[in-house]
Parts: sequence; structure tokens; C-alpha cells
Amino acid sequence: MDTTPVQFAVAAAVHAPSVHNTQPWRFGHGELHIDVFADAGRRLRVADPDGREMMISCGAAVFTLRVALRYLGWLPHARLFPDPLRPALVARVSWDEGRIAADPYEREMYAAVTARHTHRGGFGAAPLPAGTLSALREEAAREGAMLRLVAAGDKRDALAAAVQAAEHTLRLNSGRAGEQAAWVVAPGSPRRDGIPPAAYPAEPAHTEPDFPGRDFAAGRGWGLAIPAAGERSSGVVCLHATSVNEPADWVAAGQALQRVLLRAATCGVAAALHSQPLELPQLRDFIRVQLAARAHPQMIIRLGVTGQASAGTGSVRRPVGEVLL
Ligand SMILES: Cc1cc2nc3c(=O)[nH]c(=O)nc-3n(C[C@H](O)[C@H](O)[C@H](O)COP(=O)(O)O)c2cc1C
Repeated sequence: MDTTPVQFAVAAAVHAPSVHNTQPWRFGHGELHIDVFADAGRRLRVADPDGREMMISCGAAVFTLRVALRYLGWLPHARLFPDPLRPALVARVSWDEGRIAADPYEREMYAAVTARHTHRGGFGAAPLPAGTLSALREEAAREGAMLRLVAAGDKRDALAAAVQAAEHTLRLNSGRAGEQAAWVVAPGSPRRDGIPPAAYPAEPAHTEPDFPGRDFAAGRGWGLAIPAAGERSSGVVCLHATSVNEPADWVAAGQALQRVLLRAATCGVAAALHSQPLELPQLRDFIRVQLAARAHPQMIIRLGVTGQASAGTGSVRRPVGEVLL
């Protein structure tokens, strides 16, 4: 059996973003399909009791498989939760015998898979390149999700306040703080999952208005040195949302998230992600009702252009041999 497309696509899929870089996935395969399984042992038991963030992460991996298969010319189609008796089987990505060469857009999307990194900081004052936001909104819509702009003013300030409140709550709650700390990797560790010191600033970055980053360093002195004159703009703030909130919608949100992030990367736009308030039911509900017109918020995304080296470039991944059954 020719496993080359399988190996190739899974090698790309492991680069998908995942909450705390938990990489909560495993892959199986047949001759003309790849199965994506959620690895519940990697779910955040305190922050993610329903597995919503785990499913978003798996959805991002599903979309990345599709991008890689298209790069090879195959015509993939994903079926979500194809077997009701196996709820851990998140998706089966299949392709037929025929091939059509990838177009330039598809090749750029593939190149962005390893070039993209989560940005953890502010942005410069430059606006997004013309047309970027509408292009990203279309990308989200193609996967059944919505990218809603939160314009400067009371709503954006309220969203920033929700991120601040969640960040304080997280630090005050030993169960939550301990769970996050377990996914922060010590300097020099050979671990290939979790957040390594090269992926975050030594102190959480602050923006205007303030969307504080997670405090991965937590006073341990780990993380990257903070630039003296850091960029402070919060960038273009968006809510990534779905109209329904079932597991299949979380997977769709994950596919849409990765589609948006890859497309942004092809436009030279970096993205910072905040899920802190979406892990707290009351803040999540506040955001849904007050700021998202009752759509279900799945991620807060800040988009912008940065002239500084991104603190996210040092991320790590487990090798294909560890995740491909
Ligand atoms: C569901 C989900 C939630 C995330 N939440 C945050 C967050 O609150 N703060 C953050 O800095 N990054 C967040 N991230 C980004 C991950 O930490 C990041 O994808 C992972 O560490 C891998 O790094 P990379 O994206 O640079 O490849 C989130 C990603 C996902 C998929």
C-alpha cells in the first residue's frame, strides 16, 4: 500500500494549533482515507470539561490534512463523526483516485502550515493589508463559522475586560493554574508537546486596550526577553463564532480557525489567540449575549502586522510516528 500521501498529510497536520499545544489527536488510515481521533487523555479536564477546545484543535488538524492532500493534488472530503458508535472518531478525510494539480492559492496555504505561529503580544500601528479582513471572513464562512469584527469602542473594551477578568480568575484558581502549568515545558526539556520557553514572553504582553496573554512564565523566569519598546496595539479584534454549539460545530470552528490563520499568514498577518474567558461559563455567556449577537463564541482572535520577531516561533510537535497508528 502506498502510504506516502498519508505520511505527508499527517506530517503537516501535526503543525495545527491546539490548546496549550496539547496535540490531542491520533491518526489512523486506510488506502484512501485518514481518520482523526480525539485523544481524550490530552483533554484539559478543568478548563475544557466538555472537550470543546479539544475538538477545535482536532478540527484544525482535519483542515490541515485537507490542505496537505490538496497540495499533492488529491481531492479530499471530510466527514465529521462518521461512526456514531465511535465518538472519538472526529473525522474521516477521504480522497478519490483522480488528481488535479494544486493552484497557487492552495500551494500558499500549504506553505503557511509550518510558517504560521501563534503571536503573543501587541501589534504595530500599520493597518491590515487592504481586503484581508473580508477575505478572512469568507474563509471562516466556507467552513460554516463566522468571523465577527469587534470594532473599537465599548464592545471591544468590554471584551478586553472579559479577558482580563478571566486571566485574574485563572491565576486565583489553583486547579486551573496547576493544569496550565502542567503544559508549560521547562527550559531544556526534550518534551515535544506543551508550551516551550521560546514560545512566550517572560511576562504576559499587554496591549491597548489590554488583552493580557496567558501567564505561562508564572514568575519562574522562563520565556523570551521582552523588547524594550514593545508594540502595543491590540490589532483588529474578532470573535470567531458558530450559530450552534454541538461537537460537530466545534470541529467546524477548528477547521475554520485554521483556514483563517493560514490565510492570514499568507497575507503577512499574525494572529494572537485568547480563549481564557471562553473557558468560564459566565463570561462565555456574557460574550455570547452582549458581544456576539447570541452566536456561540469559539475563539477571540486579534489580527495585526508586527515588525518584531514573534514570541511564538519556538513551538514544538510530536513526531508522526507517535501519532499515526
Ligand atoms: C482551542 C485553542 C485555544 C487556544 N488558546 C490560546 C490562548 O488562550 N492563549 C494563547 O496564547 N494561545 C492559545 N492557543 C494557541 C496554542 O497555544 C498554540 O496553537 C500552540 O501552543 C501551538 O503553537 P503554534 O500555534 O505557534 O504552532 C489556542 C489554540 C487553540 C486551538
